[in-house]
Amino acid sequence: MAHGRFDNPVIASLAGVKDFFSKQKLEDHLKDTDRADGKTCIITGANSGLGYAMAVEMAKRGARVIMACRSQIPEAGEKVKMESGSDQVEMLPLDLSKIDSIHQFVETLKKRNLSIDITILNAGVALPKARKLASGQEEMFFVNYLSNFILVNLMLANGLIENRSNGMAKPRILFISSDSHQGSSAIDFEQFGNYEDYGVSKGISYYSYYKLVLNTLAIEFSRRLENKNINVLTICPGPVHSNIIREAPWLLRKTLGAIFSLVFRKPAVAARPVIYMALSKDYEDKNGSYLHMFNPKKMDPKIYIPEEGLKLWDYSERLWKQIDPKAEEIKFNYITEDEKVG
Ligand SMILES: NC(=O)c1ccc[n+]([C@@H]2O[C@H](COP(=O)([O-])OP(=O)(O)OC[C@H]3O[C@@H](n4cnc5c(N)ncnc54)[C@H](OP(=O)(O)O)[C@@H]3O)[C@@H](O)[C@H]2O)c1
Repeated sequence: MAHGRFDNPVIASLAGVKDFFSKQKLEDHLKDTDRADGKTCIITGANSGLGYAMAVEMAKRGARVIMACRSQIPEAGEKVKMESGSDQVEMLPLDLSKIDSIHQFVETLKKRNLSIDITILNAGVALPKARKLASGQEEMFFVNYLSNFILVNLMLANGLIENRSNGMAKPRILFISSDSHQGSSAIDFEQFGNYEDYGVSKGISYYSYYKLVLNTLAIEFSRRLENKNINVLTICPGPVHSNIIREAPWLLRKTLGAIFSLVFRKPAVAARPVIYMALSKDYEDKNGSYLHMFNPKKMDPKIYIPEEGLKLWDYSERLWKQIDPKAEEIKFNYITEDEKVG
């Protein structure tokens, strides 16, 4: 049975204390000259927490920012414009728990003939109890994992993320993860996509387990897109004082809130390593790499097993086709059989 590293949310938060005081090796590598002028950047879940802070910073650094959100439209976008001093910011609706919404979002991008240079898959939830979606899956599995598989594949299949070889840097796809994935169990393919009930303790356990699943996908994408000159990167921002615990029961929310306000970083600070990974030349040729805040390191060893990546891809593709009639039309034409590794 699948399990994550923690089964107690207070212990999980206290693990963030170590991160808060840990040395940030490459901290001074993010320069003011790391700019995004002329680039288009999509950030999912950009109305809150880390995503919001990244939207402000990307806009300040010259990017055209598309905030892909399910709420606070257009207020959050107006705030980002004000804080960044840029008017190159817009919000597009995207609810990652609904397949139709993902399709509509991609259709909108396509109609505008956009080419996305930086895709930051940031949206995520930490739910205190299981919720079943209309499509039959559990919400945290879907939002934190499967929706990313669907969204990135749709963007690639529609030519929205492409290496234009026009002197610009390679497109980058960044998965926002959590170092709490380390030590989670191997992927439980027997239960893959099945609805499972959980409460608070299993909720935090699933949160870190789904990050391991997400990271395995990131590495599989990095293999499949290597020859397309697209960089796929994964990062844990460390502890962020965000709204992620908004759904926790009252007492737990108060306890975690106290820990968050003391030792979790402000979103603007936690966003810095992500901005570094998204823009710095240091990451131009580091497809498949991982940062834990400003520290390069390896993810859990299971993530790099090619058979696990292939199997995850096949299970995800099959599940997508089961729940979405439009998935059959998707041509995974950006990956030839020869290019598949494993
Ligand atoms: N906070 C931490 O300590 C920490 C540590 C490591 C990694 N992370 C990761 O950082 C990322 C950002 O989280 P955060 O801490 O900034 O939390 P947050 O403030 O709660 O932001 C989460 C964002 O995800 C969006 N979202 C949730 N469900 C969605 C859906 N169905 N469709 C579209 N958007 C959805 C939320 O939108 P709404 O406002 O509409 O709900 C919100 O914009 C997550 O992937 C999280 O796992 C956080």
